Amino acid sequence: MPVVAIVGAQWGDEGKGKVVDMLSEKAQVVVRFSGGDNAGHTVINPSGEFKLHLVPSGIFYPGVIPVIGNGVVVNPAKLIEEIDALNKCGIDTSRLVISDRAHIVMPYHIIIDELEEKSRAGKALGTTKRGIGPAFTDKIARQGIRIGELLDKEGLKERLGMVIETKNDILTKIYGVEPLSLQDIYKQCCEYGDRLAPYIKETITLLRDAQKRNDMIILEGAQGALLDPDFGTYPYATSSSPLSGGGCLGSGISPTSIDRVLGVYKAYCTRVGSGPMPTELNDEIGEAIRVKAHEFGTTTGRPRRCGWFDGVAARFSSQLNGFTGGIITRIDVLDELPQLKICTAYELDGKIIDYIPASVSEYDRCKPVYEELDGWQTSTDHIRKYQDLPIQARKYIKRMEDFMGCPVNFACIGPTREQTIPLNPIF
Ligand code: IMP
Repeated sequence: MPVVAIVGAQWGDEGKGKVVDMLSEKAQVVVRFSGGDNAGHTVINPSGEFKLHLVPSGIFYPGVIPVIGNGVVVNPAKLIEEIDALNKCGIDTSRLVISDRAHIVMPYHIIIDELEEKSRAGKALGTTKRGIGPAFTDKIARQGIRIGELLDKEGLKERLGMVIETKNDILTKIYGVEPLSLQDIYKQCCEYGDRLAPYIKETITLLRDAQKRNDMIILEGAQGALLDPDFGTYPYATSSSPLSGGGCLGSGISPTSIDRVLGVYKAYCTRVGSGPMPTELNDEIGEAIRVKAHEFGTTTGRPRRCGWFDGVAARFSSQLNGFTGGIITRIDVLDELPQLKICTAYELDGKIIDYIPASVSEYDRCKPVYEELDGWQTSTDHIRKYQDLPIQARKYIKRMEDFMGCPVNFACIGPTREQTIPLNPIF
């Protein structure tokens, strides 16, 4: 059975939660591999509507082991909150596994995220203020604390003692705010450790054994390709790789083991937070999309910036990820629009280019070159077969596919599992 990576192909919020939930029916293991509780995966299924931030979207199937991989940074308080909320709705979370190598988002990470954003003044990145950047910074600076360390209380005390001293220097001497209490944080960490102990495991063996059994493993991405710290709109990016390559690093599964890489694309573009977005619509069409699709951040509630489908960004993302197939979500959101546009190239300082420049100031100056397509102006949310879609919608999907550079596996015309139109088989 295969390993399938499912990743966001734009700026996040493409609807990965629904896709992972649907495909998890056939899976035995679902691994979240990057990000932290900055992610917000909405899942609507017969058990209700859920907004997941850390727990993998495969949690709803009793036959699935949901794994929080080593590449995720975990805020224990948020995870416990999420587990409790799921349990309250009758969802069994006892199969959940957290990699002992996953790093912890500590209270000082959240404070520093906020203070750093404030100090950027007019140039704020628009982070989710969940402490994600500072937690990944500490991981790379070898100052991070891993979830597994919560289980060794003596060792934890020593590590925390060293780290908190440095953090308090930063808080008091650079930002002039109150220091944190080592005792309080240590006590809190011990409580988290007691609560999360049943879930914390060594996951490399677990995944290797699953592969030996020929289990189907889904690697569940968070955020989207254009927020990648290397290839996204840096510095307006997140701090871990949302790409399929990040799936290997964040789970311990080797690149040669991945059989399929599926890219999730929205039928238009959205972005939350600052940074370039050439196809952004600051007009009534953008507002109409935002209202119809309820484009507000799952994690922060911020209004998402809405714009036309960007073919240049779509192709870049496909190349970076090596998509074997694509999934298009939210086709129904475009149902009422008489004319649609797809960005086919950019104009940068009078020159036509077909790539994303590395420099954000250049990318900011890029103006979209559009191709116009007719809208279908009829509702599609009840349609279940590709042939039943209006011809204009089929043409739109085919044009998106040209830029995606891979066959479309299915298209979604609503949030429920049933509102899905199959096109090409995944396998
Ligand atoms: P951070 O990941 O909180 O540091 O935020 C960095 C950038 O990534 C900001 O522009 C956020 O809005 C964006 N971002 C982080 N997580 C998500 C997500 O799940 N969906 C969409 N944007 C996100």
